[in-house]
Amino acid sequence: MERLQKIIADSGYCSRRKAETLILNGKVMLNGKTVTKLGTKASLKDVITVEGNSLKDKKLEYILLYKPRGIVTTTHDEKGRKTVLDLIETKNRLYPVGRLDYDTTGLLLLTNDGNLTNKLLHPSNKINKVYVAKINEIVVPAKIKLLDKGVYIDGIKTAPAKTKILKIDKKNHTSLVKITIHEGRNHQVKKMFAAIGYTVAKLKREEFAFLNLDGLMPGKYRKLTIKEVKKLYSLGK
Ligand code: URA
Repeated sequence: MERLQKIIADSGYCSRRKAETLILNGKVMLNGKTVTKLGTKASLKDVITVEGNSLKDKKLEYILLYKPRGIVTTTHDEKGRKTVLDLIETKNRLYPVGRLDYDTTGLLLLTNDGNLTNKLLHPSNKINKVYVAKINEIVVPAKIKLLDKGVYIDGIKTAPAKTKILKIDKKNHTSLVKITIHEGRNHQVKKMFAAIGYTVAKLKREEFAFLNLDGLMPGKYRKLTIKEVKKLYSLGK
């Protein structure tokens, strides 16, 4: 037997906090009776409905998408631009785990498992994200090193990053820099490079935790394996 709010959150319906609010607001029924007490315990054998939806009907889905350029990472865009959801065939209502900019390419997870999403996005879990930035200049190694210590963006210092210059193309005057961060602030990588005087011309997210883009082309996606989902769960507190 477990607390009702935990069962609801673990099903992926919503976060535990949201589940508590739903219980307090009389939106949860246990075996046909409305429950409003937070301490109520139940098991998966019980019939639980949340806002009229049976928990058992919900199928959790986990997608790894290679986001192409020119797509927005929202579920709906007021300007009518294509969203990441337009690329995925599903009956479920999926949400992106975090966000990639319109012009950023690379690895994006989408799921209807709100509990896992909360874990992966919670700053305390420090999930590593690896990006490759193309800069239309020859970068100076000492400047790139400044990112390793942390730089100020919007008045707040970033956590130390890990950087590696992958390529310096003297002929075309471009550089490729790999950067690993665990924070997820808005436009973080572009702002970090801007803080040391560089403009990011292209940005690609190559890794999220232990996941990468192997075997995928831009615009394509695959389902995560059960093993991968379990491993992602094990990363969060
Ligand atoms: N940092 C950025 O600046 N943009 C992204 O899309 C992701 C990380």
